Amino acid sequence: MAKNCQCHSQISEELLSQIDKIIESSLDQPGNLIQVLHRAQELVGYLPREVQIRVAEGLNIPLANVYGVVSFYSFFNVHPKGKHKINVCAGTACYVKGAKQLLENIQEQLDVKPGGTTQDGQFSLGMVRCVGACGLGPVVTVDEDVHAQVHPGKIPSILSKYSKEQQ
Ligand code: FES
Repeated sequence: MAKNCQCHSQISEELLSQIDKIIESSLDQPGNLIQVLHRAQELVGYLPREVQIRVAEGLNIPLANVYGVVSFYSFFNVHPKGKHKINVCAGTACYVKGAKQLLENIQEQLDVKPGGTTQDGQFSLGMVRCVGACGLGPVVTVDEDVHAQVHPGKIPSILSKYSKEQQ
């Protein structure tokens, strides 16, 4: 199997060879692309182009097919995620209670857009569907924690709590 040049590789050879093993173990399974991508993402943390190329070569399918699946499903990430994942609830109840302004405020404070990760790799910002705490909106989740009735003034103390955890 021809391998692309790894001169500027972000992914170690060891991880790439583990991806090769995942691919090899799935070769006899029809519809294996999504499963291989899931396992590769578990291993690497995200699916950079380099990994997508490896999967396409290993499964002997066009890179465009792999990219099409990766970009279609929101659970696949093409960029590394931050240490902490911040999500603002995009459900209707939270929206009417100011979730949009909250998101804009967090974007400003972290200098990152939804779907992005801060320069220091500490925070990724995103949106989630209703988390089932509508009466407590607007809701922001950070990793597994749910923060209720969040207003812009609360954001600095929430962020600093997680920033401190990194030290
Ligand atoms: S709409 Fe935000 S928790 Fe339900």
